[in-house]
Amino acid sequence: MIYLDHLASTPLDPLVLEAMLPWMRPEAAGNPHAAHPAGWRAADAIEQARGEVAALVGAQPGEVVFTSGATEANALALLGGVPAGGGGVVSAVEHASVLGCLPELRRRGHPVTVLPVDGAGRVDPAALDDALTDMRHSSIVSVMAANNEVGTVQPLAELAAVAARHGALMHSDAVQALGTRMLDMAALGLHGLSLSGHKLYGPMGVGALIVRPPFRPVPASAGGGQQRGLRGGTLPTPLCVGLGAACRLARERREEDARHIGGLRDRLWQRLRDRLPGIRRNGATDGLAGCLNVTIPGIDAADRLLDLPDLAVATGSACHSGVGEPSHVLLAVGLSAADAHASLRFGLGRGSTAAEVDEAADRLAALLAG
Ligand SMILES: Cc1ncc(COP(=O)(O)O)c(C=O)c1O
Repeated sequence: MIYLDHLASTPLDPLVLEAMLPWMRPEAAGNPHAAHPAGWRAADAIEQARGEVAALVGAQPGEVVFTSGATEANALALLGGVPAGGGGVVSAVEHASVLGCLPELRRRGHPVTVLPVDGAGRVDPAALDDALTDMRHSSIVSVMAANNEVGTVQPLAELAAVAARHGALMHSDAVQALGTRMLDMAALGLHGLSLSGHKLYGPMGVGALIVRPPFRPVPASAGGGQQRGLRGGTLPTPLCVGLGAACRLARERREEDARHIGGLRDRLWQRLRDRLPGIRRNGATDGLAGCLNVTIPGIDAADRLLDLPDLAVATGSACHSGVGEPSHVLLAVGLSAADAHASLRFGLGRGSTAAEVDEAADRLAALLAG
């Protein structure tokens, strides 16, 4: 299997697995919220992990709220974070976990604005300025750091500065960016940030929302009281430890990974372009190191990939919906539905190799030529 779908999920790094394993053994039993030595040991391990998560994004350990993943973190930020009487502003290319909150916000009576993007997938800070001027409510702005389909990196610092001028809170879904880019919440002016373990070579089923004052979302669930009442429930020690280890590795390897992965992305593009006349690249060329989104006009990407079962790449049909809808991101950057269906997303990662990239390009070209 040639695995080029790292934007959907990254394999667990062996060092992360090693850090988690002791906490999965029977002798590690202990509720981290229990007041006895077994509980305290687990709580210590979780606090260390909290510190690693915070360090990755320039936050304080006490600002980290562990969640089940970024979907939950985004929902907590959006549904819990829109101020009473306030509104929400998001971009048209947000992940479904953000866009999916909008009907509920509207149902609760909050005004919601969806900002358009340009042909590269970028939000214009002037458009945010206009939206916040029109809104005239206290608001939360949520714009992702980097897009999961076309890899476009948003001008977060500029957007946060606009939000600050209007007294709005600024949240970012940073799931895709953190593996290869440095994001410092304080320097960028972010109050909230979502991240996910399984996009960072950590485990599935864990993520975090980082909340910096004055941001304090209203908890989604009642009871429990853990994590300062923001997200009740017993913390899963192995998953939190795994997320901490993944964040430490990301901090240590970010630059090297970006160089390696970006080099492979350029190699893949070159090779595809040489072999497939008419192929076009989507999104910004200075985007996420591991993302290459292309359109090969005239093909039905999802259908053709069935003939390459040993190649894991994503198509421009929204796979999460399972109904073959064209991707809302590709439509937002100006592609037709037909071109969206003719698009493929390659997601390169830490373990990807030049041989895999070459073979993937050659196999795809051979299939489409035949
Ligand atoms: C940009 C972005 N946000 C949020 C998510 C959801 O993350 P999780 O799987 O941790 O719920 C994803 C995963 O596809 C994503 O790519």
